[in-house]
Order: sequence, then C-alpha cells, then structure tokens
Amino acid sequence: MAKLTKLDDIVSLCKRRGFIFQSSEIYGGLASCYDYGPLGIELKRNVRDSWWKATVRMRNDVVGLDCSILMHPMVWKASGHADKFADLIAECRKCNTRSRVDHLTAEDQEHTEHIDPELAAEKSQNLSDKVCPSCGAVGDFTEPMAFNLMFETSMGANIGDQMKTFLRPETAQGIFANFRNVLDSTRVKVPFGIAQIGKSFRNEVTTKAFIFRTREFEQAELEFFCKPGTDEQWYEHWKQQRYDWYLALGINKDRLRFRDHDPDELAHYAKACVDIEYKFPFGQGDWQELEGIANRTDYDLRQHQRGMRTLNQWYESGGDLSEVNLKDEDDNYHKGPLSFFDDQDNSRYIPYVIEPSAGVDRSTLAFLVDAYDEEEVRGEKRNLLRFHPALAPIKAAIFPLVKKEGMPDIANNICNDLQKYFACSYDEKGAIGRRYRRQDEAGTPFCITVDGQTLEDGTVTVRERDSMEQWRISQDKLLGFLREKLEV
Ligand code: GAP
Repeated sequence: MAKLTKLDDIVSLCKRRGFIFQSSEIYGGLASCYDYGPLGIELKRNVRDSWWKATVRMRNDVVGLDCSILMHPMVWKASGHADKFADLIAECRKCNTRSRVDHLTAEDQEHTEHIDPELAAEKSQNLSDKVCPSCGAVGDFTEPMAFNLMFETSMGANIGDQMKTFLRPETAQGIFANFRNVLDSTRVKVPFGIAQIGKSFRNEVTTKAFIFRTREFEQAELEFFCKPGTDEQWYEHWKQQRYDWYLALGINKDRLRFRDHDPDELAHYAKACVDIEYKFPFGQGDWQELEGIANRTDYDLRQHQRGMRTLNQWYESGGDLSEVNLKDEDDNYHKGPLSFFDDQDNSRYIPYVIEPSAGVDRSTLAFLVDAYDEEEVRGEKRNLLRFHPALAPIKAAIFPLVKKEGMPDIANNICNDLQKYFACSYDEKGAIGRRYRRQDEAGTPFCITVDGQTLEDGTVTVRERDSMEQWRISQDKLLGFLREKLEV
C-alpha cells in the first residue's frame, strides 16, 4: 500500500516530471491557476475517459452533451446562482483581507458547499475571537456579507448593446437547459441521464492546496432524470456506482468514505446530498470532498419553466437581472414545457434529478496522491506512481539496451507498432537502471528492453513497475501480453 505522502512531494514531482505547472509562471504565476504538462494532460484525459466510459459508454440509459460555457443570463437567475451562489465573507479592518467566515474558525476545514447567504447569515457566528489569516489581528472584522462567486463578463462589441453574463459556475445548468432538446431528438425515456464534462469557474475567496480548489476547474457531472418517488432508489444506485468507480481505479478503500450533509448544509436545490470524501494529505491529513451526489428534486426544471415565463421582464429591464422576479408557477406546472409524458402509465410530470458531480482536477489530485510511493531498492530510493493501468499516462516504454547493433531500430519499430493501441514512449538515453527509474516516477506500468538476446531469438525483456518482475516475451506475443495486462 502506498504511503500517505506530503502534498509538497506531489507538487515537486508534478513540476519536475511535467505533470502540472503553475499558470503564467514566467510572469510570477497566477494564483490558483494551473497548467497540465505532457504527462499531466495524458493522466487527466485518462481520468475523463474512465468517467465517460463508466457513466455513458457502458450504459444504455445515459447520453452525453457538450454545452457552451457562456449561457443566457436568465439561466443563472432561474437556477438561483445569480441571487444565492455566494460565500459569507468578512473583511479584516486592519489589512482589508477578505476571508470566508467559515474558514476563520478552522482554516483547514473544507467547507463543502456554497450556501445560501440568508442561511449563512443566520448561522454566522460571533467573530470576536477569530484571527485574520493574513495579518493575525483578532476580532477586528466587518459585518459578514455575501460575496457572489460567479465571474461576470460581457458579450458583444457595440457600446450600449453589450450583454452582461457569467462564466458558468457548474456544467449542470447546460444540461437542464437542453433537457427538452435531448428528449425531442433522441429516443431516451425517463429514467435516463445526461452527462457532461467541462470547465467551470468560481471566484473562490480562498483557494487551496494545489489543484484541490481553484478558480477555473473541470467538472464531470451527470443529471439523472427519474420519476418522482423513485428518486431515493436512484440516489442509492448512483452513490454506490460512484464509490465503486474510485475503487475500481485503484483508490485505497481506507482513504475513501461517504459523508452525509447535515440539513443546514444542503445547497438551495437539494433534498439530500452525500459527499464522497478522500483523505488528502493536507491540513491534519483531512477528509475532504472529492465528489457530491445530490437529490436535486425537480427544482431546476421547474425553475427554468418559471424563467421561460419571465423572459420578457429581462428584456424590459435592459438585461438587469436584479429587476427580474421569477413568475410564480401555475397549478399545471407539471404539464409545462419541461415536463415528461410517461407512456408507461400515461402520466405527465417534471422528473426528479439525481446528480453525481465530480471534479476532474480534484480526482486527478486524489489519484496522484494515492499512487505516490517511495521505497528503497538495493540501498537506493525509488519514487514511483502506482497508477492503475487505465490512468497511467504512458502504458509502455521501449528501450534499446545500447545505441548500436541495430537495437534502436528494433525498439523504434516495437514502439511504432504498440502506439497504434496505447500511449508509448521511446527512450535510449542513460543507463538502463536510470531509464527504469524515470518511468517508475511517471507511473509507466511496463518497460520493454531490446538487448543482445533479441538479436538472437527475437525475445524482449518486459519489466513490471510495481513488482519489478521481468519476463522474456517473444516480439510477436508482446501486443497480446500487454493488452491483457493493461486491459486495453
Ligand atoms: N452541480 C453541483 C456542483 O457543482 P459542487 O459540490 O459545488 O456541486 C462538485 O461541485 C464538485 O466539483 C466538487 O465535489 C469538486 O470535486 C469540484 N469542485 C467544486 N469547486 C471546485 C474548485 N473551486 N476547484 C476544484 N474543484 C472544484
């Protein structure tokens, strides 16, 4: 079992080996923004692909979608984000630093949701003994105030004709806004899901711990539509599916758990919510949210029906969302444009929604942390990433033992052949032991060496990363051998 490592070790390995870099580093960096390097992008792509495979491709009841990041501003009015997607903050009177009120009490504690500011105001505590994390002043804060986390932007070039809108803070709303389109253009029937992976943006007050909480991040979200009354059963189904996904990709069971939300912690749209938490190596080795699974009821579709009925107010106000009051529902809301006709029992209703919402960057960090290991081999330290083969950025590295006697040509040919099936890398530089170490640190499950014996009998050495076990395999059996081991 890999040891629980320090975050600093991961950050340093990520930079050294080209997994993750600070954004705009040549200009001193941009806080909380990160770039994925050559190995990192392969790893993150594999995380995405594994999610997509399990959530969409392996099921007959889920379809995919890829929506634009910019959406009509009324989407955010109807969803509640324009009015309620806020953190409660207080400003230090000494140094003017703004902090999340919930982070003042316990700095390392993860606050899992952005809560309704009205609710938060009710919960706000006396700040008289709270310490400013920036200057250390005690109890010298302004009254707590709500700070909306959405990034504003404006669209259009003509002065006077510009429209204020937002970068999406979650991908989910693109799915709700397309619910009717998907129903009308495919053969799906409730129960079914719509999945999406894409970037979201939040102007987080406190960013934290490398790629754990950033202002630009990627989400993998599923909105699963079901008949009211069956929602609790689907909630349990998705809880289990999502938990099992992490385990199947090698996450250590001892570092994964569920945590139910308390009623006062629930987001404005949720009837129930559970987090899948991972024991990350920051704070005191704290349990932190990896993914949330929520029962969103019929809240969003109903809100969008109200939004559609209110659109003229937005035009009349010149695009000022604060002037818009969503029209109340009529008694027949369950027959509205975002309802579903169920031909099983000839009923019409607005489906309930179960939403597993994962962070791609946060999962990538968990997979990195979980795979990281150090061990001593013959008196030398070996760093390795014990990635599940499906996640490993490079599946096989191919080496000629020496750069002569035709070995580089044979190794190159093997690499070219295998590359048709999975990511490979060719390396002829340095002593063979060092080449193995480089690949161990990149998490490559197999190394293949062409040596003197290859010239005689056509076999190569295959060495496995974790056990360092070696086999002689004939070249014509190599692809089959690796595909079986890698399950690709
Ligand atoms: N649509 C529901 C939703 O967005 P959330 O709990 O706010 O729910 C879901 O976010 C997941 O997105 C989180 O569990 C986390 O993995 C990821 N996430 C949220 N904010 C993030 C941030 N600032 N940086 C990185 N990942 C974030």
